[in-house]
Amino acid sequence: MIEFNFKYVLESAIEENGFEESEIKSFERELVAARRSLNELRRSGEVGFYDEISNIGMVSDIKTSAEKLFSKDIKTLYVLGMGGSSLGAIFLKEALGGMRSGAEKNRGINVIFSENIDPLYIKKNIECIDIKKTVFCFVTKSADTIEVVAQFFIIKELLEKAVKNYRDNLIFITDRQSGFLRRYADENGIAVLDIAKNVGGRYSITTAGTLFPAYIMGFDIEKFLRGAISYRDGMLNKGVFENNPVYTMAAVIYLFYAKKNRNIFVPFVYSDYLREFSRWFRQLFAESLGKDLVSPTPVPAVGATDQHSQLQLYMQGPQDKLIGFFCLKDTGSDFTVNSSGFKEFDYLNGKRLSDILINELKGVELALAINKRPSFRITLDKIDEFSMGELSFMCMEAVAVLGKLLKINPFDQPGVEKGKKFAYLLMGRKDDSLSKESEELKRLNEIPDMHY
Ligand code: PA5
Repeated sequence: MIEFNFKYVLESAIEENGFEESEIKSFERELVAARRSLNELRRSGEVGFYDEISNIGMVSDIKTSAEKLFSKDIKTLYVLGMGGSSLGAIFLKEALGGMRSGAEKNRGINVIFSENIDPLYIKKNIECIDIKKTVFCFVTKSADTIEVVAQFFIIKELLEKAVKNYRDNLIFITDRQSGFLRRYADENGIAVLDIAKNVGGRYSITTAGTLFPAYIMGFDIEKFLRGAISYRDGMLNKGVFENNPVYTMAAVIYLFYAKKNRNIFVPFVYSDYLREFSRWFRQLFAESLGKDLVSPTPVPAVGATDQHSQLQLYMQGPQDKLIGFFCLKDTGSDFTVNSSGFKEFDYLNGKRLSDILINELKGVELALAINKRPSFRITLDKIDEFSMGELSFMCMEAVAVLGKLLKINPFDQPGVEKGKKFAYLLMGRKDDSLSKESEELKRLNEIPDMHY
């Protein structure tokens, strides 16, 4: 279960910087309209993340492919993908892997990631694996992403030198039909898994792109999907303000941005095992919402660590932030502090480390409130597959709702395309669709570099 506490956004707590509950509730009409619009996109099949979570065929395809891999002498699954096509699996690896006890082993396959094209990092990874006993898993919805394709050519060459049939060491997870890697796979008999056409990278945590690596890591992907389904159905069957964190959270973030100039949103996670979740959430938030000159900027933080880093700024810097705390009721393990005999630390004696962590969070909340700074808190029971399914779905739906409130399309990323086009030009790609950028590049190239 996910609890949402928004006491510290209220005027009664943070005075003129907050909202009256009635002001938030009076936003119901806009939320209902956002929900209706998303429902239409879902019904028309334009947006698929709502229904892909119930795709039983996908789960069985993942298991079939995974069993083939388990039946071979494979030691490493090396996942290569960018942005939304890798952050979900990295998030689950950290969150669920961290919670797994030593006894709950995976199936003996180590899963590693390249989510960048830093040559040194890739070289080091390759040095650490036995290439013959590695399956390279290219995850790319478009099947065309420059970084992924470039790595494919490098890996293909390495494999051709190392093994008899390089195809046996590859699996591609892409859109069913389009893109270079998909065509290449079809023409060359390479194993594939599908990502549904109507699910974009950052909404793909419930697709094979994430769930295949997750299954190889030994996680219960059906339980993860049950968590997402239960959250979807629970939320959609309730009124927007009927104990419904998705809509309340979206309304709160929107209202602080639009009416109180809170341009920065800080997802502040109080668990080391939610660090990668906060990176995943940042990407989902930023790439979905940052367009047409709108959107708060997401800036993740980890507590209690970052209390000794950004917190000073959040406490006394510009009044431009809204903080969303994420914490756990059950941290999965604990220590009890024995400070008996040390008088000045009497208050710690017998305290669990998790009590200290949560009291630090509460202390920060209180201090922020006294400084008239808004925050809300999301509490998860614990980290397991079910709760991560709930959390993922909650965040995807909240971002989609925010997109509707901000009146932008949360499912495209036109700004990212521009940088790619310039990169293509700089690398000498010839293409009529780049003519505008070619002119722009010419103009900027006429300005000399400013070297010191
Ligand atoms: O969320 C997104 O759409 C992007 O971050 C993509 O996931 C990223 O650009 C990689 O694209 P692709 O999956 O097509 O390789």
